[in-house]
This record gives sequence, structure tokens and C-alpha cells, in this order.
Amino acid sequence: MDVGYGKTILFGEHFVVYGLPAIAAALSDHTTAVVEDGNSGLEFIDNRPETPGYKTTKKDEIQRQLNALIEYFKIDLGKTPIKIILGGNLVCASGIGASAALAASIARAMSRKFKLDMDDDQINDAAYFSEQAGSGTPSGIDNTCAVFGGFITFEKNLQGGKNKIEKLSVKKPVEIVLANSGITQETKIVVGDVKSLKEKNPQEFEKIFAEYRMIFNDAVSEIKNENWKKVGQLMNKNHLLLQKITVSCKELDEMQKIALDAGALGAKLTGTGRGGLLVALTPGTELQEKVGKAMEKAGFEVSMTKIGV
Ligand code: MEV
Repeated sequence: MDVGYGKTILFGEHFVVYGLPAIAAALSDHTTAVVEDGNSGLEFIDNRPETPGYKTTKKDEIQRQLNALIEYFKIDLGKTPIKIILGGNLVCASGIGASAALAASIARAMSRKFKLDMDDDQINDAAYFSEQAGSGTPSGIDNTCAVFGGFITFEKNLQGGKNKIEKLSVKKPVEIVLANSGITQETKIVVGDVKSLKEKNPQEFEKIFAEYRMIFNDAVSEIKNENWKKVGQLMNKNHLLLQKITVSCKELDEMQKIALDAGALGAKLTGTGRGGLLVALTPGTELQEKVGKAMEKAGFEVSMTKIGV
């Protein structure tokens, strides 16, 4: 059985689109894939758990992703019918990297089935191809995290060459709480709005980018030191910058306050924003429980998991 991890972006969503470096971490939750001989064409069995409605809403996107993988692996379904079976414990929802986990796990399973012996870079290429077919022009941070796992820094090569990826080594996975605002947003639209805003306010954005670079540099050192208190403070600072570029919203700001009041070391929106998920840093199961319960009491769907696996 082959695996693709879910992800959370700890630093730098949106900034990553403009070539700034970001930090993401794989979740302990993952999608598994098996590719077997089929009876005719493509059979797809999707046993992944989901937040209600996810698979229906994403039906076309999932189909485009599958078609892209068939194309990438040059499979003639008439001659070589296959069956793809997905499972695992990653609950599919927006913002958790579910589409990247699907792509990475299937790419690995294809490599195994057809004895291609692909390395992680090649798997990542296949997963990115599938991600592009699914949702346009993603930076590639999600599939990189889904493939490599752990903590990674990711810097997109805007010239189209190889992206810069570094693994940050952390000894022990760390507890987090992911809380769902219940609001779904289209990444393409929010990214487009930020682009227009940047075109209208180039100087303001240069200042914000410079502030973000300092946060990123400190975050890399503090993650390596496993100084989670400091990492949490830096996440809060990152959230402020995300507010400035208009990708937070009233609900996410309220959720951040609830998490911090309950003792989270830091909390910020993660991913697209204007809805989607909040990530709260809560090392230790006791703190995780406390923050998770507070978020649940406030009516938000919560996932308690670990990063850095
Ligand atoms: C979405 O998960 C993260 C964004 O930075 C877009 C991307 O990197 O493709 C908003």
C-alpha cells in the first residue's frame, strides 16, 4: 500500500506564489493507494473518509487528476485496464492537501505496479502534473509535502526550473489542532485577488514581503531548535501579514482568538484563507485536548493530529 501525506502550511501561503520560501509540514494522517489489474477501463474505488460533500463537490477535479495520472504513466486503458483503490485516515477536506495526497499515493502505487522504481523527485513530478490538471496553477508545495513528509521548506522557481526544497529535521512529531471554519473558498480566486491587490500596492507589498522574510528565517531556526513557543509566536506574526493581504476573515480571526485564549502557542490560517482551516500549535496531548475542546465548544469541526511525521 502506498502513501501520500496530508499537509499544513505553517508559514508562507500566498507569499510562496511570488517566489518567497514557505514552510509546510506533513500530517500523520495520510491517503493510501493500491493499483491492481482491472476488468475494463479505469475502476476507481474511493474509500477515503471525507467531510460531508467533499467528494461530490470535487468529483470533476478528482476525475481530471486521475486522467492526468493515466496520461503521465502512458497507460492504454483498452489494453491495460486498472483498478485504483484509495483509503487511509486522512479525512478529505479543503485545505488539508487531500488532492496532493491522492496524487502522491497513486503515483507511488503506479510506480510499484508497473515496476518503474521511481525516486521521490519523479513521484513528485507525477503528483504535480496531476495537481495542475486538478486545479490550475498550484505552487507545488502541497504535492511536495505529500511526497516527502516531515517538515520542508519550499521555494518555487518562478523561471520554471527545479523548485528549492529542503527537509528540516525534527526529532519528534508535534501535536496540532486543525479547526475548520466551514467556509469553502476557491484557491484560484483568492490567489487572483491577492495578485490584483499587489499590482495596485507594490510598495506596501514589498514591505510585507520583507517582514515575511524575517519571520521565515527565524522560523527555520526555531523549528530546527524545536523551540515551539517561539515558532508559535512567529505563526501569530505570519497571521497578521495574512490579514494585511486580505486573506483572513472575521471567522478565522475569531478562531485564532479562541485557540490562543485556550493556550495554543500560536495559531494562524493555513492554506487559501478567507475560510478553510486554522492551524493551532499545541505540543503535548494535554494542550491539544484543551484547545481542541475549546474550538469544538465554539462549534468548529476539529481534527487533532501531529505534524512532522
Ligand atoms: C494553498 O494551499 C496555498 C496557496 O499559497 C496557493 C499555492 O501555493 O498554490 C494559497
